[in-house]
Formats: sequence, structure tokens, C-alpha cells
Amino acid sequence: MSRITIDTARKKSKINRNIYGHFSEHLGRCIYNGIYVGENSSIPNEKGMRKDVVAALRNIRVPVLRWPGGCFADEYHWKDGIGPKENRKKMVNTNWGGVTEDNSFGTHEFMELCRQIGCQPYVNGNVGSGTVQEMSEWVEYLNFDGISPMTELRKQNGREKPWGVKYFGVGNENWGCGGNMRPEYYADLFRRYQTFARNYGENKLFRIACGPNVDDYNWMDKVMESAGRFMDAITLHYYTTPQDWEHKGSATDFTSEEYYTTLKKALRMEELVSNHTQIMNKYDPQHRVGLIVDEWGAWYDVEPGTNPGFLYQQNTMRDALIAALTLNIFNHHSDRVIMACVAQMVNVLQSVILTEGDKMLLTPTYHVFDLYKDHQDAELVDSYVDTTEVGNKGEEFPQVSVSASVDAGGVLHFTAANAALSGMETIECRVLNKDLDNVSGRILTGKMNAHNTFDAPDTVQPVPMTNIHSKGDTITFDMPACSVVEITVQ
Ligand code: AHR
Repeated sequence: MSRITIDTARKKSKINRNIYGHFSEHLGRCIYNGIYVGENSSIPNEKGMRKDVVAALRNIRVPVLRWPGGCFADEYHWKDGIGPKENRKKMVNTNWGGVTEDNSFGTHEFMELCRQIGCQPYVNGNVGSGTVQEMSEWVEYLNFDGISPMTELRKQNGREKPWGVKYFGVGNENWGCGGNMRPEYYADLFRRYQTFARNYGENKLFRIACGPNVDDYNWMDKVMESAGRFMDAITLHYYTTPQDWEHKGSATDFTSEEYYTTLKKALRMEELVSNHTQIMNKYDPQHRVGLIVDEWGAWYDVEPGTNPGFLYQQNTMRDALIAALTLNIFNHHSDRVIMACVAQMVNVLQSVILTEGDKMLLTPTYHVFDLYKDHQDAELVDSYVDTTEVGNKGEEFPQVSVSASVDAGGVLHFTAANAALSGMETIECRVLNKDLDNVSGRILTGKMNAHNTFDAPDTVQPVPMTNIHSKGDTITFDMPACSVVEITVQ
């Protein structure tokens, strides 16, 4: 038995909806085929965007979408992706498989995608191989409404009004694929580039600095010290691999030992967010600067027979647990974590959607985003869980993880994950300061490697819970092994 206690009167911080954000890079079949098929495709589309994919993304209320990379961002020259498609310059996507990028999906297409999904765009600029002028002009093209060369160009390309893009990244992984820089050097570049990324009209640009990889605390320290006052947020990247970077391990064929190792590694997010927050507190005690985990998720070996540069992997209940644990961590840190982007949205790494030709499936990770969507913009409330530990010897971790929030209508939602691989766990949840008249829930469960395929797309999907009981201030329900639930108390 695990005992959860939730106190709805102890409100902590607002869970920024952008914690449930996504990332789409020009990588493999994420943009092309996965999202964008072009207007002449036989796959049903609106202005080239797959209708099935857009509808699924709207259902989980994707709040924000990062684009065009990733490593691709620091090689991307935005002017190659505007104007008549037949005139657009082709380039080699050197980071991802050396394939030809025809630039048929560019700024206008990305903004149209965000419009269809109903999400905010997060555009990532090029510091590694781009100029200050190039970045400055992109912002002008996106956001300026007056008379100027970039406004003229945008109008010539069919867009009269500026889009008013708020979230703007100044470089990506500039410690690695974005230029192999030292933090001191990047901090100076950030200060310079962001100066010319202007505010236009009412639109105040939200300037996002490139932060550290995993536990590079020196990077966080140096960049915050020197450039903290010029930024609105700084990023963190952390991927979970079961084994190591050389042999990451299969997405579907793994042992229970590897399952527990993977979850233990995913839980490292707690330590990373806490430690980076400590450093940020040194330079920004008021929490003015947000932490944005704009790349997170599981990274496995690619599916056998697929292009190693395309990073295409399946997605199982193990990934559902990774997502559930990680999102609970972000909720708990919502006083500092203001945005996160799972990598990546379609057909790359820990995707919520996979496609094959005209077929589409929703992954177990998608269903976790569905179960968790009610936390968006709700108030985090105090929750505590008294549970046993599971995992490999010497690497145990709590069996049940939880987070809870109260939405604008006063409805309590809590999400819980049971990481154990056997047994049925009874959960007794005491809820303080809330009547328990109307309690319902949804559950996602399956074997650790259960997944959806194009032939059997509904193998893993959430179902309503039938075994919830409430009495006095306590809700009781059972969680099977390897499961995630969302409980709603009206
Ligand atoms: O998401 C895949 C890649 O991982 C991104 O392009 C890069 O930023 C990170 O290393």
C-alpha cells in the first residue's frame, strides 16, 4: 500500500502550460512526412500539414512548439526557407543523415503549423554559423509592422501582418554542435546577439539563452554570472539512455533490469533541475529568469533497418513511465521550470506520434500527455507520498510518484505513476480541504514493453477507472504494475 496526502489549501506555484511543450527539428521524418507532406500529397492535409497529426496534437493541447532545431538550428539560414518553393535553396542536413533539405518547410509553414495546432511558436536562432544581422532580420521579419526591408519582404511572400513571436532562442547547444564554445565566449555572444534581436511594438521578445548539457554546472554558472541579466530564460538538455552513448539499448527489447535502470536515470532530472536552480538562485534570487528544459526524453538505438541519422525509435510503457515521472518533477519545480519540450514531437526519439505513409499512431507517451494536460496553468498543491522502493539493488527509487494541482474552476487533478513491474498497489489518498463527492479517473497500463504498432494502434491506451472509492477525506484505488493514472475530483 502507498499513502498519498494532498492538501489543496497549500498552493505552491502555477504550473506553466508550456511545461507540456514539444520540439520539432528538421531531423529524419519529424517535419517532412511526419508533420508536413505538402499540399499535393494524397495524405489529407491542410496547407500541407497532416490533418490526422494536427488533430491529435490539438487534443493534448500542445501549448508551445520549438523549431527548427536542435543542432539544425545553428546551420539554418532562414532566408533559404522563404519565398516561392521552387526558388528555395537546397542544403545538406549535415547533422542528420546528410540528406538534402529542400527548405520547403520554412518560417511561413512553421507559423501556419502553430496556427493549426493552436500553440505558441518558439523559434530558435542561429548563433553557431549565422550572423548578428541574420538573426536581427529574422526577428524583424517575424515581428515588425512598420515600413522596413524585412516587412516588405514578408509582404511580398504573402504575409501582411507580423506574427508576434514571443519565444526566441539564441543558439542551441553552443557547447557542442552549436559551435563547441566555452561558456565565457558564448555568454559574450549571447549578450551581443540578443541586443539586436529587438522588441517591436507591443511584442516583448522572450530571449532564451543556451544553457548546459546535463550536469555542466560550470556552464550554468558562467553564463548566468555574465549574461543572466540580459535573458528571460536559460535552457537545460538531458536525455535518458539505458546503457551508454555508444550502445544505447533497444526501444522495445529490454530486460526488467534495464527498465529499472532507465527509470532511475530519468529520475536524475530531479537532481539536475534542483542543482541548476541552486546556481540560478545565486544570480537570480527573484526567479526572474526561467529554466527551460527544451530537450528531454529517452534516446535508444534506432529501429533496426532505419537510417541511423534519423533517430526513429518505438515507444513503450517504459517511455510512458519516463514521461510521467519527468512531468511530475517539472510540476514540482514549476516555480523555476517555466517550459519544457519533449524531444521530439513526431517520428524522432521519444515521440508522441509515429507515422508510416498515411498511417499514424499515438504512443504511450502521447497518452501520458493526454492524462496530464489538466495540469496546464493550474496551481500546484502540496502532495506527499509514502511508498516503498523498487529498482535494481543499490539503485532503488520510490515506487509511486505523484503531483497534484487545482485548476481555475477549483477542480483537483492528480497524476500518479506506479513504476513497479509486479503486483497490484493499493493507493490510499487523503485529500485535505476538498469535498470528495465526484471522483473519477483514467488509467494507462500495460507490460513494460507494450507498445502500439501500425497494425495494432490501440494496444496501449487510457481507459476510465472503475475501482475508485471515496469515503470521508480518503480516495482508494488500485494501480496495476507499470501504470499511470489521472484522478479528477470535481
Ligand atoms: O534532439 C536531437 C538532438 O539532440 C538535437 O538536435 C540536439 O540539440 C541534441 O543534441
